[in-house]
Amino acid sequence: MAQLWGGRFTKETEDKVYQFNASIGFDARLVKADINGSIAHVTMLARQQILTDGEAELICEGLRGILKDVLEGKLEITSEYEDIHSFVEAVLTERIGQAGKKLHTGRSRNDQVALDMKMYLRDEVRAIDSALGTLIQTLMKLCEENLDTCMPGFTHLQKAQPVTLAHHLGAYTEMFLRDRSRLDDLYRRMNTCPLGAGALAGTTYPLDRELTAKLLGFDRPTRNSMDSVSDRDHVIELLSALSVVMAHLSRFSEEIILWNSNEYRFVEIDDAYSTGSSIMPQKKNPDIAELVRGKTGRVYGALMQMLTTVKGLPLAYNKDFQEDKEFTFDAVDTVKDCLELFEGMIRTMRFNRKVMERSAQSGFINATDAADYLVRKGVPFRDAHSVIGRLVLKCIEMNISLDELSLEQYREECGAFDEDIYDAISLRTCVEKRNTEGAPGPEQVRKMLRLQREEAALLDAHFKDRS
Ligand code: ARG
Repeated sequence: MAQLWGGRFTKETEDKVYQFNASIGFDARLVKADINGSIAHVTMLARQQILTDGEAELICEGLRGILKDVLEGKLEITSEYEDIHSFVEAVLTERIGQAGKKLHTGRSRNDQVALDMKMYLRDEVRAIDSALGTLIQTLMKLCEENLDTCMPGFTHLQKAQPVTLAHHLGAYTEMFLRDRSRLDDLYRRMNTCPLGAGALAGTTYPLDRELTAKLLGFDRPTRNSMDSVSDRDHVIELLSALSVVMAHLSRFSEEIILWNSNEYRFVEIDDAYSTGSSIMPQKKNPDIAELVRGKTGRVYGALMQMLTTVKGLPLAYNKDFQEDKEFTFDAVDTVKDCLELFEGMIRTMRFNRKVMERSAQSGFINATDAADYLVRKGVPFRDAHSVIGRLVLKCIEMNISLDELSLEQYREECGAFDEDIYDAISLRTCVEKRNTEGAPGPEQVRKMLRLQREEAALLDAHFKDRS
């Protein structure tokens, strides 16, 4: 057992208590953030003449050595330490002697761990944003290639009206752009530095909190020391944003599973992203899409866990906060994996354009257009709706599509029909005429793509400034 306290204790901690209390098993991944935070802290302590330049140099040198050794696998973070902070301080003191014991001057593990989590999560937000950026690029490329690929648009999972594949995919680009903008937004809010808040009430040393904030790339120091050590809003906001990312990925996965099914055949997932069955030799399963859909619950779970942990906690630090880590780390890992695999899956997926177009030919998805045709000929919409409804019924009985009715058959229902009905309800016309802002007409989809590109570039620029 190696811990940072013990002076006022007369007994050893019960073994089970020590294990229950320890966080080294999961906070080891904060090592880089912890050491970089300490280097900034010590640099500031020297500038403020709280430590001598010589001491600070020795400590920083030692800290850099520890980080290097850990990253290179030469130094193992073992469970004999209570947490990552104790590990670093113990190894430092072992390596450089007395000066190591001065590292923690004017600091508490409470502000230290708040800082570590923010620094660690900032990196993760950047990585997730970048993975979203890659996915969006892939989607925009697919959009570009499919401006004219007609397919049925669905409501209630029933064929409804004609759209294009570009338009359908563009809807997901919108979702992922909103996800990026949520990350952008929460990053801005979380980027304040808690270092110097101490245990809860600051310290009596003349710390320069502006300096440490600046050294560590924060916009400013936090404003209230009690809030600093007990604020986990950024974790909640991040998990909430990640839950929405997963909701989007899950919906998209569900569509791909449907589209890849024997009944739809709209797409074929590449062999590299499919798996087989141990018993049915013919099977090629969309496991990646199913797993992405399935892993959504883990991330929602992390959000619920964090909200519940924070609920009812009095100011300021409480040990409960230690529970902000495991689920959050799992959620972050899960989202990164899902984004990467999902992007690869759709990048390598084959779109069966012919099947999509053929599917759009059936199912009366041009019925609204036929009704609108009558409206243009002066028939009130409600009457037009019922005329087309009767014609659809007729078609169903004869097992044909609206395009296959003769002009006489049209006229039996309504005298307003002319030869131009066929052009008005052809699939191409139906898509091309849908030119209201945001509609599937190619002109509008091109505009959507341009605006999406602009927004993606803006987000790229925001995150580039932060790296
Ligand atoms: N492992 C602790 C955590 O994750 C570090 C802070 C400990 N602070 C304390 N007062 N025991 O929150």
